[in-house]
Amino acid sequence: MAKEIPYKIYLDESEMPTAWYNLRADMKNKPAPLLNPATRQPCTAADLAPVFCEELVKQELDDTTPYFEIPQEIRDFYKMYRPSPLVRAYCLEKKLGTPAKIYYKFEGNNTSGSHKLNSAIAQAYYAKQQGLKGVTTETGAGQWGTALSMACSYFDLDCKVYMVKVSYEQKPFRREVMRTYGASVTPSPSTETAVGRKILEEHPGTTGSLGCAISEAVEKATTTEGYRYVLGSVLNQVLLHQSVIGLETKAALDKYGVKADIIIGCAGGGSNLGGLIAPFMGEKLRGEADYRIIAVEPASCPSLTRGKFAYDFCDTGKVCPLAKMYTLGCDFIPAPNHAGGLRYHGMSSTLSQLYADGLMEATSVTQTKVFEAAEYFARVEGILPAPESSHAIRVAIDEALKCKETGEEKTIVFGLTGTGYFDMVAYEKYNDGKMNDYIPTDEELAESLKKLP
Ligand SMILES: Cc1ncc(COP(=O)(O)O)c(C=O)c1O
Repeated sequence: MAKEIPYKIYLDESEMPTAWYNLRADMKNKPAPLLNPATRQPCTAADLAPVFCEELVKQELDDTTPYFEIPQEIRDFYKMYRPSPLVRAYCLEKKLGTPAKIYYKFEGNNTSGSHKLNSAIAQAYYAKQQGLKGVTTETGAGQWGTALSMACSYFDLDCKVYMVKVSYEQKPFRREVMRTYGASVTPSPSTETAVGRKILEEHPGTTGSLGCAISEAVEKATTTEGYRYVLGSVLNQVLLHQSVIGLETKAALDKYGVKADIIIGCAGGGSNLGGLIAPFMGEKLRGEADYRIIAVEPASCPSLTRGKFAYDFCDTGKVCPLAKMYTLGCDFIPAPNHAGGLRYHGMSSTLSQLYADGLMEATSVTQTKVFEAAEYFARVEGILPAPESSHAIRVAIDEALKCKETGEEKTIVFGLTGTGYFDMVAYEKYNDGKMNDYIPTDEELAESLKKLP
């Protein structure tokens, strides 16, 4: 007899993954290598060493090792907020009147409010192991910066965060949480770095972008003794750490004999989605099972759905390596959409390759539709979702409604990456009917793509 499925499936601590899964090991077409911006040759470990921690460089460049053991110190930290629950959205199903079975993996159950802590603690750990004094980074919505400040305070490392200016202004409390954990926070672009000053000169009055903030953080790290730069998304190493999300999800589903049909995640730089789908995509790549996998991005920053699959700089200041990815062009500065974490011009090269190979789908949604889904979800499931996560909610609801029409009992799993308590300005705009849906024109995108290297 099938086991009754509880509202929340919690694994035991003893069932938590002890190794991260490296999806690249099972990919026939590996993601294209990062290129050195000076030589345009594939980056070597020596090229990356001045920017990133040694151990993370190894993880970044390793396309063949399927599993990396999670160090015990990181597993101990994970236990503060993991295993995270896999929730069967009974209330949402009932409200929608759908025969679909909806599950979400809730990653907002920690002070940083999102999945970002999974990689932050790993990166801080390796920085400490290397004997560094501190790290620098960028943050968009603020979740990554918060996660990293928590991780750095745990390991007693200095943490310097460049926060995209529009978020810095919209989210003063997010900034204060970072300072509470001991980080210093600078609005980007700033006059603190040469690249920040250059961007300000070229785009006076800009509200900033992740690409700008990355350039500043990299410059700061590479010009300060004992510092390295860490990144919260896009890179292979980050997807590797985030595989803990998918491994737990799969373990929880397997425990109850449930097989997912559709897996949905929002995609900014691709880390939560890459992590959530990792073991499922692994099965798909090995021909063991099939899943429909959907990446959801904002219509205002549609890298997968309207971008070009090409080598581009990872940052606006063009100081970082080039990655082959779906990109809108590194100079593309998206409209000040309220899902700050999805305002990145490119997409992880691993996800880009999988998408190019037809192994996953992508779709884009407008802001007001996203907030409509967010409020609907908050009212029936209780959790106030982050705007980023609400992109996945939107598409999960739409897929469940399709099942209502067809009568199909599909199992839908989506990633609920975080909570939206610091996004109340956005909710206020939506509630006041003042939210707009800016969608870039083809001409605007063509203009930006023209400048691809
Ligand atoms: C709550 C939340 N979800 C999703 C994202 C998107 O990032 P990624 O695509 O790397 O998961 C962010 C990024 O800041 C975020 O804060």
